[in-house]
Amino acid sequence: MSESNAPIAGAMEGSNANRGLWSSRFAFILAATGSAVGLGNIWKFPYVTGENGGGAFVLVYLLCIAAIGLPIMMAEVLIGRRGGRSPVNSLRQITKQQNLNPSWRLVGAIGVIAGFLILSFYSVIGGWAVSYVGTAATGQFTGQSADAIGAIFSDLLADPTTLLMWHTLFMALVMLVVAKGVRAGLERAVSILMPALFLLLLAVVGYAMTTGEFGRAVSFLFQPDFSKLTTAGVLVALGHAFFTLSLGMAVMMAYGSYLPKNISIAKTSIAVCVIDTGVALLAGLAIFPIVFANGLEPGAGPGLIFQTLPLAFGQMPMGSLFGTLFFILLIFAAWTSGISLLEPIVEWLEEQKGMTRITSTLGAGFVCWALGIASILSLNLWSGFAPLGWIGMLEGKTIFDLLDFFTANIMLPLGGLLVAVFAGWIMSRKAMEEELALSKPMFNLWFVTVRFITPVAVGTVFVYNLVGA
Ligand code: TRP
Repeated sequence: MSESNAPIAGAMEGSNANRGLWSSRFAFILAATGSAVGLGNIWKFPYVTGENGGGAFVLVYLLCIAAIGLPIMMAEVLIGRRGGRSPVNSLRQITKQQNLNPSWRLVGAIGVIAGFLILSFYSVIGGWAVSYVGTAATGQFTGQSADAIGAIFSDLLADPTTLLMWHTLFMALVMLVVAKGVRAGLERAVSILMPALFLLLLAVVGYAMTTGEFGRAVSFLFQPDFSKLTTAGVLVALGHAFFTLSLGMAVMMAYGSYLPKNISIAKTSIAVCVIDTGVALLAGLAIFPIVFANGLEPGAGPGLIFQTLPLAFGQMPMGSLFGTLFFILLIFAAWTSGISLLEPIVEWLEEQKGMTRITSTLGAGFVCWALGIASILSLNLWSGFAPLGWIGMLEGKTIFDLLDFFTANIMLPLGGLLVAVFAGWIMSRKAMEEELALSKPMFNLWFVTVRFITPVAVGTVFVYNLVGA
């Protein structure tokens, strides 16, 4: 980051001149994809696709990315850059300058709560990846049957102590980076590790092509059969578009505040969306051929990648090495995403409560960690406990399922909806034209989308699901 380049916000009230800016468009794309690409792409996308019947779900998800996710990402980045500070203060700054209702900063507050809830279970899944590094490295997948590999996974889930240990380790990794504010080093490392993850995924796709079920996987993923898509499935696709792009909790707003003025918000946002979607589709192409070749169940749920990829690693040459590397890289991807979940909470505590960085990281980290224990228990001791099971749509959902459901499918789309309404109806159009610097037709296309299409689409999906509940 260049410190010499004081952002415009420095001149405004409550000087913020030492925030610095991203050194380049590349640095921003790196940080934003670091946040976006994570467990959502490799763990969640394949299993929600499997649970929701494949092609039609994928099509709706892609539509949500292009028609809702991308425009909202642009809106978040532009609000952040315009305000030039943390999300809550950016919103306050813009509302003040334009004499608007200050409660808009609540968008930032929703983000803080969603961040807590998401990180609590995200870290538990991150822990699964940590645990699998050791399992792969010690050759336990080599030559194993689907049943044996399934047993490794169910043994892990059945053991709260081990889960807690890995969850603690993952959370500690995230807290370490946030406490020290040493993201730059990690981000540079990730600029090598992410392409490596991409290549390894390609290698698994290559392996998957030889299993003979590749064609079936391709038609499962890309041949829409709308009879398999439910109303609830549409909500999951919408929620996942927000989750995978890190939208709806003002993360991209925070990152946008560091983006230099001369860089195109549209082009950089498109780059992030394309990379993120590419990784998810690749993960799908790697996993489903293995699912079909081994007679596994596409709708097996959250364990899907942990029950399929090890089969591939167990059969390919040098599989233990590739498997170990793969899970290490997955940890890095999850790590940078985890950081972007904790960072806004810590910044908020620093700004609003005047706490030091170390105290706020320890405090917020501890709360997430403790909350994570509920998710761990809902995988074993509490697996039959569905606290809100009497509500039709939440039937059979454990605490872990509920946390995922409420954050991804309710809070993030709601946060995104507020961002869209703020950009589409509240903020000055002139300011937005300046920030986006698009041609007239392109600006209008974006504007109509955030003003009408996004609110109507999110609203419709919500209403349909409520009526069906
Ligand atoms: N996008 C990340 C993933 O796909 C998860 C994530 C990180 C996130 N930061 C976020 C989701 C902020 C919502 C909001 O794994």
